[in-house]
Amino acid sequence: MLSGLDEEQRVLRGIASRETARLRDGTRPWTWWLERAVLHGRRFGYTNTLLIAAQWRAAIDVRSYEEWQAAGRQVRRGETGIRVFGPSGGVRAVFDVAQTTGLPLRAGSRDASPSWDWSEHVRHLHVVEADSVGFLVRAWLGLEPRPPVFPVNAFWAGPDAGDRILRLARRLYSAACGQAPSVGIMDAAHRFFQARRPESWVPAYLAGRGFPLGVQRRWQLGHAPPGPRALTDHLRGLGHDDEQIVASGLAKPAGERSDDDGLHDTFRDRLMFAIRTADGAIAGFLGRRRDGAEGPKYLNGPATALFHKSELLYGLHEARDRFAAGARPVLVEGPLDAIAVAVAGDPRHAAVATCGLSLTGAQLGALGGVADLAATGVLVALDGDPAGRSGAVRAWETLARVAGPVDLVALPSGRDPADLLHEGGRAAVRRALRTHTPLADAVVDAAIERAGGALATVEERLAALRAAASVIAERPSEAARQAVRAAERTGVPIWLVTEALIEAARRPRRAGPPRPAG
Ligand code: UTP
Ligand code: MN
Repeated sequence: MLSGLDEEQRVLRGIASRETARLRDGTRPWTWWLERAVLHGRRFGYTNTLLIAAQWRAAIDVRSYEEWQAAGRQVRRGETGIRVFGPSGGVRAVFDVAQTTGLPLRAGSRDASPSWDWSEHVRHLHVVEADSVGFLVRAWLGLEPRPPVFPVNAFWAGPDAGDRILRLARRLYSAACGQAPSVGIMDAAHRFFQARRPESWVPAYLAGRGFPLGVQRRWQLGHAPPGPRALTDHLRGLGHDDEQIVASGLAKPAGERSDDDGLHDTFRDRLMFAIRTADGAIAGFLGRRRDGAEGPKYLNGPATALFHKSELLYGLHEARDRFAAGARPVLVEGPLDAIAVAVAGDPRHAAVATCGLSLTGAQLGALGGVADLAATGVLVALDGDPAGRSGAVRAWETLARVAGPVDLVALPSGRDPADLLHEGGRAAVRRALRTHTPLADAVVDAAIERAGGALATVEERLAALRAAASVIAERPSEAARQAVRAAERTGVPIWLVTEALIEAARRPRRAGPPRPAG
């Protein structure tokens, strides 16, 4: 049976795909979405802008409970939240300003040069996307948006195009009002972290885990000093002002509790990994705490104009040459796992890490930009424990559209590639990556398990079958193989599986891109 949460996610997805269908068939004009995106697109992605509009037609400023608190306003008691998807796919509640009381909001108008030109940034986009980006940026800047002429049917509507438009619009908006990290600040921080590494606990710690000095240097790993202001002072010394330092995410204004009103470094006493965009620019950092220290094990910088965790993959840039030579992408969870796969040294593999998120469409798009996914497919190497398994199932939502083979490595339970390197050396990692099965097997099995209970009654078997069919229908290229497996697992005759498949294929699918990636 579906749990309550799954059910709610399903309902919300249904709402979003219905709204997308309306944009696509012209029932709603594209400018209808753009107007909602002007209101909500700086905080929310495409799908959530649709969900907000569908649940609260008149919403004008929507934020989380905590964000309202930080702005000096309280959500009134008894208010029902607007349900949207959180960053990791769960459902969370947000509230419109009309549901709150408290301090008046300051008008957030921005000074920007009206002549600021973004056309060169959008030249590679389709005209409708470029015009949409221009519309949003002008509106956010408080300039009269130029209403472009869009075709009646927004056949391109969907999360891919919508989020691509929102991301670029946010980035250009930040650049236009001077919020983007100033040139060179990320590189300066990166050099600083690396220079601090030799004198820190990092080299011995990593060497003890199977990552010797040469590997640490090659991956340009660093150490953020305990602070509270070591990096900030260094950057100030280089001439960066406080506003630039905060915009880069490398420091934050000290909290109210503290007795100084200066800045505090974001990363203190952490092993530092630089996360680069595909073309090599440092977008942000990931900091791992020292074993036994306080705080989350891994810390991300805050989202900045450059740093969008859900679009980035650790190791993507570093593996570009290997991908260009035909290496197969291995999807791992953590940065040390990505490095472990590289250390293992099989040129047929190169790993990228989602850094704890489930793989997003934007990340897959970035991967498809450097690897020929139709030829290589993707190898998923997550922990062999239940959490890793459910991570693999979630990754399927994105990976089902990869044209090439998508396989799951059978890692020993509770072990990730970094553990294997530590315990068994390079050979153990290489051996583990050689054994894999189609990811669809695991996903179909999980659907049958979840929906079918003990498979003791006809009802349970049919429920399992329907669940399996909706998974299988997402990937027609494997349908025959999976249909046979589903029949075997559920004990239902194959003709009934075929019927269920036909029915699943008729049901509206999740809104997605019209063509497979890669
Ligand atoms: P794990 O807890 O499995 O850590 O989290 P790990 O990767 O094995 O860490 P090591 O090997 O001890 O260094 C898996 C991934 O989830 C993200 C990180 O990207 C991590 O690699 N994560 C974990 C966070 O973002 N924050 C956390 O607090 C913990
Ligand atoms: Mn690990």
